[in-house]
Amino acid sequence: MIDLKEKRIDEERQGEALERESTKKGNGRKVYIESYGCQMNFSDSEIVASILEDEGYETTKLMQEAEIVFVNTCSIREKAEQTVRKRLQSFHKAKAQKPEMIIGVLGCMAERLKTKFLDEEKLVDIVVGPDAYRDLPELVREVDGGRKAVNVILSKEETYGDISPVRLGGNGVTAFVSITRGCDNMCTFCVVPFTRGRERSRAPESIVAEVKDLAERGYKEVTLLGQNVDSYLWYGGGPKKDFDKLSEEEQAMSVNFAQLMEKVAQVSDQVRIRFSTSHPKDMTDEVLEVMAKYDNICKYIHLPFQSGNSRILEMMNRGYTREWYLNRVEAIRRIIPECAISADIITGFCSETEEEHQETLSLMEEVKYHFSYMFKYSERPNTLAQRKYEDDVPEETKTRRLTEIIAMQQKHSLERMKADVGKTLEVLVEGVSKKSDKELFGRTTHNSVVVFPRENFKTGDYVNVKVHDCTSATLIGKAV
Ligand code: 5AD
Ligand code: SF4
Repeated sequence: MIDLKEKRIDEERQGEALERESTKKGNGRKVYIESYGCQMNFSDSEIVASILEDEGYETTKLMQEAEIVFVNTCSIREKAEQTVRKRLQSFHKAKAQKPEMIIGVLGCMAERLKTKFLDEEKLVDIVVGPDAYRDLPELVREVDGGRKAVNVILSKEETYGDISPVRLGGNGVTAFVSITRGCDNMCTFCVVPFTRGRERSRAPESIVAEVKDLAERGYKEVTLLGQNVDSYLWYGGGPKKDFDKLSEEEQAMSVNFAQLMEKVAQVSDQVRIRFSTSHPKDMTDEVLEVMAKYDNICKYIHLPFQSGNSRILEMMNRGYTREWYLNRVEAIRRIIPECAISADIITGFCSETEEEHQETLSLMEEVKYHFSYMFKYSERPNTLAQRKYEDDVPEETKTRRLTEIIAMQQKHSLERMKADVGKTLEVLVEGVSKKSDKELFGRTTHNSVVVFPRENFKTGDYVNVKVHDCTSATLIGKAV
């Protein structure tokens, strides 16, 4: 017999749920989200999609059918902002034909420029910073009511830990999972601490739960994301603190990055783990030892060095010297001899001399990176470098130095790729090759791209591929 009291509670709950459904304002309105910049931005767009779908909106891949367009933006270099601005102008033009369309700017540019988009440029209807996405449904309601809407409040707590991201445009095999938000490092060239606020770590249980859910849905690779993953430290929530600043109780319950990675690696041996970005000042041997211990943690570290000269590193406030950095590389080689390393490099930072530039090249020569992201220094408004130093390296000099750095990287990438020719490597298939539908592409543990004949393999398979040829960017092989 059904307990009447329980039945009544059930009915009340159903009633509440129905009421919630009917107050959802999305009504199937279609939202198109376009993302620029780092992986964190792409990951944030998936959180935005989840928040909106929960409110009854639908996401679409077609801008033409969208009633709401969001652009998730990047401020890291001036060029990134110019690209976004052009895109916003083109959406603004499209709005002339379709006045009911709502255009919103999300992310770092929204945070940096705040109401400037509304007051001066009149390009958009909504401006939302990276910590205010939960407010999006409310902000859309404001615009529906004929007002412009802004929320650029940064938070010391928000991690969106409870939100299950909607995987947008993915391959169903690889996914990003963010573990920290914000950055406390204050590299003098960088706008991120201002646009993404204070560093905070997400609860380990919610990270592990997200990875378990991905594993159950057939995902085979997870990349843990943070501006500086090595400084991940869970102690119950709130802004970043150092371990020795925690109370005894907090220390006892704390989880650092090495411990978190171990928990994630144990979810399934069929799910590979990657992470980005490591910071040379914080990367511990403990992290490297966990990497060495688990076969499913990819042997690949993205370890930006920015400059090979200690005076420039000091001016950049990176918190390490050339010698310290090389010591960390030595630790990687000792603990994980087969590990691939990639880097970020900035050339032409304020007052950089020719000799100092040569030190960047010589550091590259010492490490022989598998891959690098290489940039000319781009002065960003209100950063510490902009306030303290003169951006005095001429543009032609920056360009020439960058050309030299790129040439050296290409040489090293080719050497690294050639060293894999003749080997049989495990490849996780990510999809059909862009060049030919008779070929598949995937990645090795080193993050190298491999192309090979399709045969009967499919996306999501682990395949052993014998490499017989390469370019500086791709390995070419055949399944064995
Ligand atoms: N100019 C050029 N490159 C920059 N980066 C960050 N800020 C700047 C800037 N102002 C680069 C760094 C960082 C990467 C994400 O972007 O190399 O590691
Ligand atoms: Fe920017 Fe430095 Fe933080 Fe990276 S670690 S986001 S470069 S401030």
